[in-house]
Amino acid sequence: MNIKKLSLIAGMALIGASAGMAHKTTPDWIKTAVFYDIYPSSFMDSDGNGIGDIPGIISRLDYVKSLGVDAIWMNPIYKSGWFDGGYDIIDYYSVDPRFGTNSDVRRLVDEAHKRGLKVCLDLVPGHTSNQSEWFKRAATEGPEGRYADYYIFADEISPKDSADIKKRHQLGDPDNSKLGLWVPTAEAGIPLPESGKYTGNFYLRNYYPCQPALNFGYAKPDSKKSWQQPLDAPGPKALRREMKNIMAYWFDQGVDGFRVDMAASLVRGDKDKKGIMNLWEDMRDWIDREYPGKVLIAEWGDPEHALPGGFDMDFLLIHNSPGFKQITRGTERSKAVGKDAYFEKTGTGAYDKFVKEFSDQYQKSKDYGYISLFSANHDINRLNSEGRDTPDQIKTFMTFLLTMPGVPFIHYGDEIMMRNVKGLPSVEGSREERSGTRTPMQWDNTPTAGFSTAAPEKLYLPIYTDGGKLTVEVQENDPNSVLNFTRALIKLRHDHPMLANAGNWETISDQSKPYPWVYERSNGTERYIVALNPGAKAVSYTLPAEASDSDLELLLANGKVTSKKTKKGIEIKLPGVSSAVFKVK
Ligand code: NOJ
Repeated sequence: MNIKKLSLIAGMALIGASAGMAHKTTPDWIKTAVFYDIYPSSFMDSDGNGIGDIPGIISRLDYVKSLGVDAIWMNPIYKSGWFDGGYDIIDYYSVDPRFGTNSDVRRLVDEAHKRGLKVCLDLVPGHTSNQSEWFKRAATEGPEGRYADYYIFADEISPKDSADIKKRHQLGDPDNSKLGLWVPTAEAGIPLPESGKYTGNFYLRNYYPCQPALNFGYAKPDSKKSWQQPLDAPGPKALRREMKNIMAYWFDQGVDGFRVDMAASLVRGDKDKKGIMNLWEDMRDWIDREYPGKVLIAEWGDPEHALPGGFDMDFLLIHNSPGFKQITRGTERSKAVGKDAYFEKTGTGAYDKFVKEFSDQYQKSKDYGYISLFSANHDINRLNSEGRDTPDQIKTFMTFLLTMPGVPFIHYGDEIMMRNVKGLPSVEGSREERSGTRTPMQWDNTPTAGFSTAAPEKLYLPIYTDGGKLTVEVQENDPNSVLNFTRALIKLRHDHPMLANAGNWETISDQSKPYPWVYERSNGTERYIVALNPGAKAVSYTLPAEASDSDLELLLANGKVTSKKTKKGIEIKLPGVSSAVFKVK
C-alpha cells in the first residue's frame, strides 16, 4: 500500500482520530455505535387504537436488532398535553397512558438489553406543558408558591410583545411558534385563583405558546427586569436538582441515556455560552459520579460548545449548519442555499461548505465526543422526498452516513426508503412540514402496513407503501433492497472500526469538481476509500498511486462501480447514482 498523499489539493481537509479524551465515563460502546430513532406514536401499535405504544416497540425489537444498530433513541414517552408530539410534558415521571406504563419501559429496557441494544429517552428540560401540575401551581399560588420560580412570569410586557400576541390571534393561529415570546397566562385556561390574579399576567414560552419556559436563570440579569433571576437563584437551582432527579429516576429504570431537547435554550442572555456550558458540565459531573457510563446526546447543533460542555454527542442541525444543508436538503428546501443539494441526481451541488464546517467542528470537539449526522428525524424530511426517490439515491446517501466519523442516527423507516409524503394533516403540533416524517412504520403490504389492527382511516397518520415496495416484508426478501444494503453498511462499519466513529477522515477528491466525492478513512496503517456519485451522469476519479504495490479491494457497492490500475494510478469508475467502499491493499 502506497497511496501518495494529495496534500496540496486546495481545500483538502484531514481530520484526525477522535475522542481520545472523551468524558471520563463515556462508554466504549459509543465508539462503534449506530443509533436508530423511533417516534413512539408511529412504530408499532399493540392495542389497535391506531397509535404506536411501548409493547408494540418491544414486539419489534428483533427487527431493530436485525438491522445491526446498537441503540435506540425514542422521542418523549411521558404524560403529555399532545400539542407538540409529546414535547409538551405534563409529568416527567410517568409514561403517557397511550404508550403503556412505567413498567412497560422497564420491560422494554430489559428486552433491549437482552438483545445487546441500548435505550435512550428524550429529556425536555427547557419547558413543560402549560397543563403540568408545576405550571398550574406556579401560575396560581402566587410569587411565594412552591413552583413560582420554576417559570418566568411578568406583569407587563413591551408594546412589541403585546402586538405579537394580538397578531397571533388575528391570524387565527394561536399556536404560532414564531410570534411573540410572552403568552398571557389566561391563555393556559387554568381557573383563576381566589385572589383573582395569576402569579404573573404573562409567561415566557420556550417553543409553542403552550410550552412555558423553565427558569434556569439569566447569565447577566437586568435588575430592572424583575423576572430575570441569576443562575444561582433558588428557582434555577431547584430546577437543576429536579432535572437530575428526573434523569436519576429513569437511569434507575435502566435507561442508558438521554437525547436532550433544545439543550442550548436553558440559560438566557448567555452570549459567550459560558452559562449553558457550565450548566451541562455540572450535569455531566453528576452523571460521572452517580451514573457513570450513561450518555447525553445534545440537540444543540454546535459540537464545539456542546461536547466540551458535557455531552457525548451533538447533532449537526440543519438550521445551524449551512454545510449539512448544502449536501442534504432536497430540491425544494435547498433553494435556501441557492442550488440543488449535493445528494441530488441533477449533479449540480457541492460539498465544500460541508467539508469545511465538519472539519472545523470536528477539530474543536474531537477530544470530547462525537458529531452526529442523521438520515432524517421527527422534525426533518425523510431522505425519500422531492427529487430523491429511487433506491440507488437512498443507498448513496446511506453510504455517506454510515462511513462518516461520529455517531450516525437512522430515522425509523429510512432503511426501507419510506416516503416523506406531502400534504398530510398537522397532527399534534406536527404542522404539515413534520407530518411526512412521522407516519406509521410500514411492516407489510396490508391496508395498515401491519402497523395496527385499527381501520386504515384511524391510523395516527396515513401510510404510503408505493404498492408494498416500501415495506419491511417486501424488502426483507430482496437482496438488493435499501433495507439489506443498509444492513450491509452497518455490518461493514462494525467489522472495520476505521470506518466507524473514530477513524481519520480526509476528502481527497477535488472540491471544484464535486462529482464524485472521494474520501479516505484511515488510521495511518489501514486505509479505506469511499466514493460517492449522487449525480445521474457517470464519473470517474483517479487515485494517484504507485501502481505496482497498491490496489483496491471492493467491499461494498451500490451500482456497478469498478476500479482499475492505470499508469496514473487507480481509476475508480462510478455509473450515475452510485457509491462504493474500498479497502486499500
Ligand atoms: C425540538 C424537537 O425536536 C421538536 O420536535 C419540538 O417541537 C421542539 N424541540 C420543542 O420541544
